[in-house]
Amino acid sequence: MKILISAGPTREYIDPVRFISNSSSGQMGYALAAAALRRGHEVILVSGPVNIPAPEGAELVRVVSAADMAEAMKSRFPECDCCIMSAAVADYRPVKNFEQKMKKTPGNMALELERTEDILKTLGSLKTPSQILVGFAAESENLLENAEGKLRRKNLDWIIANKLSDGFAKSTNICTVLGRNGEKIPFPERPKTELADLLLDTVLPPEMW
Ligand code: CTP
Repeated sequence: MKILISAGPTREYIDPVRFISNSSSGQMGYALAAAALRRGHEVILVSGPVNIPAPEGAELVRVVSAADMAEAMKSRFPECDCCIMSAAVADYRPVKNFEQKMKKTPGNMALELERTEDILKTLGSLKTPSQILVGFAAESENLLENAEGKLRRKNLDWIIANKLSDGFAKSTNICTVLGRNGEKIPFPERPKTELADLLLDTVLPPEMW
């Protein structure tokens, strides 16, 4: 089976040296890629800038911005049996990307931002009945209600919900996996490398284990 996984943050450049990003480490996505490879699956790993080595055997597609990631994910999605979107994609990017380094001027400055594409939502609209689509929800409040909303709005099969304080940029995670048929499976704290295998057991049908 072919599994497409996105991981890490995106960077939205303001000028040649400044960007908007987040502290995603990429560890969860890379652990999922390694676990899928150990099971003999083909893995395409679409990764934003991170500081960890790619698991051996994965096809690594390096991207920087949300727009790059959208292009890579949309072009590879049709050939895949399962897609897990674990990247922390920027929701906004600067309207202008200055070619030269911005100079400071007296007083305050405002940065105008525009929405990026919701990649997962696009993939949800392209999904065929045989494809499995999995998203993440990183929430700071109303965890399960918000995650359930994302599961429905983005037409996902599964969503992995975690509180920001429990997993973001850490090597362990605590999460609850929600399924489109009402499944609700809690996973207590464990290393992301261990959690990755349990998540694959949950979201993949037995013939893909
Ligand atoms: N996601 C995406 N494209 C975006 C933003 C998010 O594909 N532009 C994906 C993430 O990879 C994740 C899921 O959508 O799998 C949920 O991301 P999250 O940041 O929790 O939620 P948002 O959809 O951005 O919603 P909100 O900001 O309202 O919480």
